[in-house]
Amino acid sequence: MHYLDQGGPEGPALLLIHGFPFDSSMWEPQISALRDKYRVIAPDLRGHGASSAPEGVYSMELLAEDLRRLLDHLKTKRVILGGLSMGSYIAFAFYRKYAELVRALILADTRPQADTPEGQKAREDLAQLATNEGSRAVAERLLPRLLTEPTREHNNLVVRWVNYMIQNTSIQGLVGALRGMAQRADSTDLLPQISVPTLILVGERDILTPPADAQRMAELIPGARLEIIPEAGHLSNLENPQEFNRILREFLDSLPKP
Ligand code: MLT
Repeated sequence: MHYLDQGGPEGPALLLIHGFPFDSSMWEPQISALRDKYRVIAPDLRGHGASSAPEGVYSMELLAEDLRRLLDHLKTKRVILGGLSMGSYIAFAFYRKYAELVRALILADTRPQADTPEGQKAREDLAQLATNEGSRAVAERLLPRLLTEPTREHNNLVVRWVNYMIQNTSIQGLVGALRGMAQRADSTDLLPQISVPTLILVGERDILTPPADAQRMAELIPGARLEIIPEAGHLSNLENPQEFNRILREFLDSLPKP
């Protein structure tokens, strides 16, 4: 498993889990904003970025287990756990099994529900597209839904970055994660049991996991704080990093000392 590990080892540890189908580099704006004080660990999940890409279904539990083994390897104790979209589906699976290892949660552009039957079918269609036509076709299919129109028209850096991450994902990674997400459990029942400080972030124009989903999570997680990121879609941390980082930093700095 390839991972980034930046900031001093003595700082509070923050483990950031990327979304589908991206890699650890999507957290670069957050790493640069936080590494003065925090140790930021950002892995490439199996099948993504520079990590190896075994065949098979990547269940959220399997991906959470990979993270547990990474934390063992790094000899970290409790971490602040953050994920964007699929990254948070994995954070839910991790919290269900290893709540004692989690100091706080950051849930960005995500939802607790499982896929609907139509959603599962769309996953399988995308897996077929990946297998038959490759990751470039997947990038073309996904991009318009990931980023807002102004980002797509005026932020060439982000467009190229997102395209690059998708096209750099292996076919096994695309298929494995799609099938894993399609069979993931509903996490709604977990939300009232979350007992650590939780920050929920969502792009105001996120059409994949819209603000209504974030609102619902905020109502179910005791004491959760909800923040809507203006001028951002599904990749709110890349589309409006200034606002995302300001809120994230404020939340992290407010946490009780470990
Ligand atoms: C992601 O960004 O991780 C994906 O949009 C999640 C999903 O497809 O449900």
